[in-house]
Amino acid sequence: MISNRRPNLIVLPGDGIGPEVIRQAVRVLEWFTQRRGFDCEVRHEEFGAEAYYRTGSFLKEEVFADMQTADAILFGALGGSIDAKPIPQDIRRRFGLLGVRKKLGLFANLRPVRSIPALASTSPLREEVLRDVDLVMVRELIGGIYFGEPRGIEELPDGQRRAVDTQVYTTSEIRRIGTVAFELARTRKRRVTSIDKANVMKSDALWREEMEALGVEKYPDVALNHLYVDNCAMQIVREPRQFDVMVTDNLFGDILSDSAAMISGSLGMLPSASLSEPDAEGHRRAFFEPVHGSAPDIAGQDIANPLAAIRSFGMALDHIFGRRSDAQLLEQAVELALTNKRTADLAAPGKDTVSTTGMGDAVLAALDRLAT
Ligand code: NAD
Ligand code: IPM
Ligand code: MN
Repeated sequence: MISNRRPNLIVLPGDGIGPEVIRQAVRVLEWFTQRRGFDCEVRHEEFGAEAYYRTGSFLKEEVFADMQTADAILFGALGGSIDAKPIPQDIRRRFGLLGVRKKLGLFANLRPVRSIPALASTSPLREEVLRDVDLVMVRELIGGIYFGEPRGIEELPDGQRRAVDTQVYTTSEIRRIGTVAFELARTRKRRVTSIDKANVMKSDALWREEMEALGVEKYPDVALNHLYVDNCAMQIVREPRQFDVMVTDNLFGDILSDSAAMISGSLGMLPSASLSEPDAEGHRRAFFEPVHGSAPDIAGQDIANPLAAIRSFGMALDHIFGRRSDAQLLEQAVELALTNKRTADLAAPGKDTVSTTGMGDAVLAALDRLAT
């Protein structure tokens, strides 16, 4: 919880379309400062492959230190051009996105997905499939196969190479993310779907047993069901309305959330919040970022959709800055803006599209309209 002192936010635009979309999120932040008294110290810092090529530093040591105590971090995307020189392994491990997530203890990644009526006709899914979808994917973010040891590639005596990754979860890691999902469900429709591959993988057999036990012991008021991940991937496009809170591991959550993004019409729509456990002083580290990446195929053209970044700032308003009604206002403004303005990823046949900046303008105009 933030006490009486002035809260602070570190903004890390990152690579590719990151700076383009974060610029629009910062304009929205400034609107809340000017119009709704949102008072926050904002500091911009470099982070990523492009910063590394330009300055030799991927993320400055002192910035990383300050990220541990910041109230919130707003981040764009990472991912340099594949033509650029490789970034040394030790820098990647320490300052890359996965290293930062791990060091900040950001175990709980929340990826909310809602269908937006104004976009129903541009989604690849049928309108009746989309109606009233409102789910949150709770993805475990600092465990599983992303971090498990052993991992690596070795040379075999016969000249082949052999690669290993390790999927590993402990009881406490499973229960910690399960608790986030059950608690969240208590504020929503009291339904949790846990997703695993327990019919094949031992780590997932444990995942299922622990989720079930947690539900029985502590959350008898929440309905829990389990799905295998392959079936779940199908259910997301067949009948997404069945889901309220979904909880799954690091890898499955990564894959399923990109797929679920199409319920909103585009990957460019999906925000996320990554949270740590509270420390001894009750401070929770919080990192807000679009689900999408640096999109090198469209970077530098002012055509990326900035709404995932803008909505990620909205999640910070809600989760960290105690401004739920402002976060709701922002969601309404996004919906209103989309009724007549779209970036290219959401284009309807025969309709004009707007630039990244133009979409930012549309959200600001909608905020002005709603606030008067
Ligand atoms: P991506 O999410 O960057 O792009 C996937 C597709 O979606 C592309 O066609 C892209 O143009 C489109 N897209 C993404 N965001 C969009 C937006 N806001 N508006 C319009 N279209 C959008 O995934 P990728 O191409 O697989 O990866 C590119 C790089 O980004 C890689 O280096 C990858 O590792 C990295 N990445 C980073 C993050 C992150 O920083 N959190 C997330 C995913 C991927
Ligand atoms: C995401 C991204 C990252 C992940 C990559 C860039 C490491 O795809 O945040 O969804 O796999 O977690
Ligand atoms: Mn991803």
